[in-house]
Amino acid sequence: MSDLEALKKEAAVRAVALVDSGMRVGLGTGSTAKYAIEELGRRLAGGELSGIVGVATSEASDVLARQVGVPVEPLDPRPLDIAIDGADEIDPRLNLIKGLGGALLREKLTEVQARRLVIIADHTKIVTRLGEKAPLPVEIARFGFLSTIERLRELGLGGRLRQPGAQPYLTDNGNYIFDAQLPAAFEPEEMQRQLKGTLGVVETGLFLGMAERAFVAAPDGVRELT
Ligand code: 5RP
Repeated sequence: MSDLEALKKEAAVRAVALVDSGMRVGLGTGSTAKYAIEELGRRLAGGELSGIVGVATSEASDVLARQVGVPVEPLDPRPLDIAIDGADEIDPRLNLIKGLGGALLREKLTEVQARRLVIIADHTKIVTRLGEKAPLPVEIARFGFLSTIERLRELGLGGRLRQPGAQPYLTDNGNYIFDAQLPAAFEPEEMQRQLKGTLGVVETGLFLGMAERAFVAAPDGVRELT
């Protein structure tokens, strides 16, 4: 395991230390969230924790959770005590871009119900403004997707349909993703409002005002941001 991977794991361990027995826990998606799910499984197997219920934000996290012995239930209207997830960008207000792993819709549906959203990431995800490094994933309906992309371009967004191979990338919800290039200056809340008002857009990877804290793995150790 590289030093950075070891630090990502340490960030995940710090976040999972906030989980107590009996909690309902949102299980994130991605290479960092994976460490958190494994750590939950380790603590359950060792008897440090009991009575945990996980709610998975992707099919992949659902499979992993079951493999490591974390009981999983579907999302229902009850609140979650905590959700632990990665991020693609984290700004100074703890606003986030998420969804490079394609799970943004289930992540947002789950994490909006969490009393606490705890982010785990490595230091490369820290930015001064959203869109500095990563595109903004926008989940769009397959039906009429070219028309939806035209509408997104009319909003001034560059970018492209996510297409890793011969076919477009398909989310767990059967939708496509448009990876939008954000303008150099924009107001995140206004961008979210405009995108949600665009026909064909299902959800965006802007997670605004949701994260309570972040454990960030850096070469000199894990820093906690609040
Ligand atoms: C998936 C996500 C992930 O949390 C995000 O892509 C970070 O992933 P990683 O920890 O692998 O860098 O939003 O939809």
